[in-house]
Amino acid sequence: MQFKKLLTILAVAAGATLSAAAGAKELRLGLIVPATHEWTKAANAMGEELKQKSNGKYSVSTFPAGQLGNEAQMMQQLQTGALDMAFMTAAEVTNRVPDMSALFAPFLVNSPQQAEVLLNGPTAQKMLQRLPREIGAVGFGYGVAAMRLMLNAFPTNSGVDLKGRKMRITPFPPVRDFYQLLGAASTPMPLTDVYDSLANGQVDGVDADLELVWRMKFYERGNTLVHSNHMMFPVVGLMSGRVWQQLPPADRELIAATARKHLNSLFATYATVEGEMLKNIEDTKKVKVVKVGPELFGDVPQKWEEIWIKRTPILADLRKEAAAIK
Ligand code: BEZ
Repeated sequence: MQFKKLLTILAVAAGATLSAAAGAKELRLGLIVPATHEWTKAANAMGEELKQKSNGKYSVSTFPAGQLGNEAQMMQQLQTGALDMAFMTAAEVTNRVPDMSALFAPFLVNSPQQAEVLLNGPTAQKMLQRLPREIGAVGFGYGVAAMRLMLNAFPTNSGVDLKGRKMRITPFPPVRDFYQLLGAASTPMPLTDVYDSLANGQVDGVDADLELVWRMKFYERGNTLVHSNHMMFPVVGLMSGRVWQQLPPADRELIAATARKHLNSLFATYATVEGEMLKNIEDTKKVKVVKVGPELFGDVPQKWEEIWIKRTPILADLRKEAAAIK
């Protein structure tokens, strides 16, 4: 672990002890996204409401931009109780709960509004209930990021253009397989390293979303925005099981309800901000925006489905629920 990160962890641990001594509890919450990201804003809003509703008993300090480590490291910290909470990508959770991979089926939903219905539906909610047993953390609820697309440093008019290209992916198997089936070289990389890797040519393109392209300025390093909306990208609100066990039942209820409310607020947020961010990117005139549908990917979504339905049969239930939404 980097020395700077170790210092941050020691400093927040000391802060928690001081607050406990004063009878209040500071909950430390880690995120991989930057401070300006909608997930961080939702976490901060949750903290303010919690402080107010608990009359100051609980406060939340957010540590964005991977200050406490990457998501795999934050997951370990949650398990040991060194970290209280995280707003974590469902992508990271799939590394321990493979069934959650089904949420990343290509073209399962086509908007944050549809994601809201599916993620609050029976199959996705049942998966949340498994988390204490399977990862040692309580899952409060889901939100989403903007829909997935690609920002490429090469002209992209068809799936063939992706062959042999080094595509940055979030490190988890469902998306790795998707790009491999497209003939690209899937290159796993945490969000915090993406801008520099695009800038120095380590990757040719990135699997990302409108918010990352705009707020993390990826548009400065690519020339084609392939607006495909090919997957949703859920976030899960987690609390360390060890911390949870020490809380009185009424406090648990308050924290869970407040976290769920602010995670769920992200569905409406993205329904609004996706359009604004697309316009901002278009106004820069730095990238060509190519609007595409599933046809760009040929038979790859079907092939992906054939592989993953065997690995995680609950995909069939999610497909049924999704079909009922459309
Ligand atoms: C990503 O790895 O692409 C990602 C991580 C967190 C939020 C959104 C995207």
